[in-house]
Amino acid sequence: MQQRNSLFNTLLVATVLCVVCSLAVSGAAVALRDRQEQNVILDRKKNILDATGLAIGEYGVQASMLEMSQITELNGWISEKFVDLETGDYVSGETDDTVGIDNRKYNIGEPSRPKTMRVFFVEEPGSGRISQVVLPVFGKGLWGTLYGYLALRSDLNTIQGLTFYSHKETPGLGGEVDNPSWKAQWEGVKLYDESGEPAAMVFKGPAPSGDQHSVDGLSGATITSRGVTNLIRYWASQDGYGPYLGKLSGELTSSKEGA
Ligand SMILES: Cc1cc2nc3c(=O)[nH]c(=O)nc-3n(C[C@H](O)[C@H](O)[C@H](O)COP(=O)(O)O)c2cc1C
Repeated sequence: MQQRNSLFNTLLVATVLCVVCSLAVSGAAVALRDRQEQNVILDRKKNILDATGLAIGEYGVQASMLEMSQITELNGWISEKFVDLETGDYVSGETDDTVGIDNRKYNIGEPSRPKTMRVFFVEEPGSGRISQVVLPVFGKGLWGTLYGYLALRSDLNTIQGLTFYSHKETPGLGGEVDNPSWKAQWEGVKLYDESGEPAAMVFKGPAPSGDQHSVDGLSGATITSRGVTNLIRYWASQDGYGPYLGKLSGELTSSKEGA
């Protein structure tokens, strides 16, 4: 009779254990894939709500604290469209096409961006008036790409909020981009200067008092701070959403006049 602790038995137990565990892990991954995707979508929605300040405005809490029914309600105020950034025109959907980025002007550290981007609108319930537009933005920090949303008020120059839903910056340093009191500084910052050039920035050190274009620097995180400045300015420029914002400004003005 074979001994219980023979080499064969040891290998058999190890093999069976490996097969059972890998089946369990891959089964769970497949079974939970839908839920993971739904959670990613939910997280994006919460970040959009955070950038717009709607959660604080309506319920007095950050979007992460909202209940599902409240997220659904606020999400009902948000619509989306696709835009070809070069022409600034709406298109029917996303494409896989990309456009090269010239990093010499605004160094966002990315070789390319999608040709079309999804933009979001906050429509006031009842009137349907567009009160904000939310633009997806991204660019490199120190350790990787920061992905976020920039919410603009209907003058398309005043920032309502900036949130990042994904980044690799160090907690306590560059990761302070998630700090609610730093994020709150963006509310009211002007995106462009008097000549229409992108001017919003993260200052190195405390932002000068009364400066309409800057927020405090992230201490010990100059590279992340510079990355955030660069990405905001790139997306606000004519290489980013500039042509679209120009057209949208005309659209919003004529709809106000027609009202
Ligand atoms: C472990 C570690 C993590 C760091 N994480 C960040 C970061 O997330 N963002 C950042 O800009 N700098 C980070 N730094 C600091 C940068 O390496 C660099 O020194 C700093 O951005 C330069 O800032 P200063 O010009 O204010 O000295 C980190 C440094 C260390 C040692």
